[in-house]
Amino acid sequence: MNINGKPHRTIWVAGDGMSVDIIDQTKLPHELVIARLATLDDAATAIRDMLVRGAPLIGVTAAYGLCLALRDDASDAMLDHAAKKLEATRPTAVNLRAALARMRARLDAVAPSERARAAYGFAAELADEDVAQNRAIGEHGVRLLRDLRAAKPSSAPLQIMTHCNAGWLATVDVGTALAPVYTAHDSGLAVHVWVSETRPRNQGAYLTAWELGQHGVPHTVIADNAAGHLMQRGDVDAVIVGTDRTTRCGDVANKIGTYLKALAAREANVPFYAAVPSSSIDWSLDRGADIPIEERGPEEVTHVGPSRVVPAGSPVRNPAFDVTPARLVTALITERGVCEASRAGLEGLFRVTRA
Ligand code: MRU
Repeated sequence: MNINGKPHRTIWVAGDGMSVDIIDQTKLPHELVIARLATLDDAATAIRDMLVRGAPLIGVTAAYGLCLALRDDASDAMLDHAAKKLEATRPTAVNLRAALARMRARLDAVAPSERARAAYGFAAELADEDVAQNRAIGEHGVRLLRDLRAAKPSSAPLQIMTHCNAGWLATVDVGTALAPVYTAHDSGLAVHVWVSETRPRNQGAYLTAWELGQHGVPHTVIADNAAGHLMQRGDVDAVIVGTDRTTRCGDVANKIGTYLKALAAREANVPFYAAVPSSSIDWSLDRGADIPIEERGPEEVTHVGPSRVVPAGSPVRNPAFDVTPARLVTALITERGVCEASRAGLEGLFRVTRA
C-alpha cells in the first residue's frame, strides 16, 4: 500500500541482505519510523511489544526471526531455542505457531550449512503468500459489497464498520478485513468506513484511520461504545472484522470488543463478516472457548497516553481478545471464497489442503 504515495510493505529484508526492516507501529500515526531487526531478540521484542502486530504480520515476523537466529548459529539446538522463544511472545494469533511450524518442517530437512540461506527463502515465500491471500480475500469480499450496494435503496456510499486494525499494517500488505474495502474503493464503488477506536490500545484510531487516510478512503472514527447506536439507527450496511484465530467450526477470535459488535449486528440485522486467511484457521480446535486469550498489562487500561484515568488501587483486567461464536457470523471471507462459518463451510473450501 502507499505511504505518501510510495508503495510499502510492513516488513522486508534490509539492504545488507540479512537484517529485517519493519514499520514501528508503536510510533504511528505521529511518525513513520523504520526499525531494524538484527537478532532473534530484536524479532521477539518487536512481536511482544507490538512494534509489529496483527496475526498475519506476527507470523511472518516470527519466520524472519528464525532467519535472524540462524545467521550465526544454524544448529538444531538454535532452531529449537529460537522457535520456542518466538512462540512464547504472544498466545492468541495462530499464525505465529503455524508460520514457525511450517518453517521448521522445511528447515529440519536442510543441512545446517545451508539453513540460513534456505530460511530467508522460505520466509519470503510466506510473506508473498500472505499478500496473495489478502488480495484474493479482497476480490471475494468485494462481491459481497457489490451485492449489498445493489440492495441498498439510496445512492449514498456503502457504510462498512470495522474494529481494531485488520488492514495492511496487520499483514505484509493489503490487509484482511480492509482488503474488500480497498478493492471496492479502487474499483470506484463508494465506501465509507466506521472505525472503532479499539480501546485499550487504540489500533482503530491510531492505525486503521491512518492507513485509510493514506489511501484516500473516506472514514470516521467512533468511540467503541457508539457502534451499537449506529447499527440500531441504520447507519451501517455491514461489519467486517479480521481474526487472530478461527476454529475449524467457525468460531472467530479477534480483538476484544468484536463479540459486542457481532451481538449488536445480529440485533440490528446487519451482516457481520470475518475475513479469514487460511493462515488464521486452527484446524486442531473445534471450540472457540479453547482458544488461549492473551491477558495484557493493566497499564493499557489504567492510562490513556501518559495520563492515568483509573484511580490508584482499583483492580484492572485486560483480556486482549474475545471469541465471536460462529452462529453470530454471517459468513467467512477466505482466499478460496466466501463460506458459512461452520466446519462444513470451511472444509468445503479447504478440503484439498487438509488432505
Ligand atoms: O493485538 P493485535 O493488534 O495484534 O490484534 C490484531 C487484531 O485483533 C486485529 O483485529 C486483526 O483483525 C487480526 S489480524 C488481521
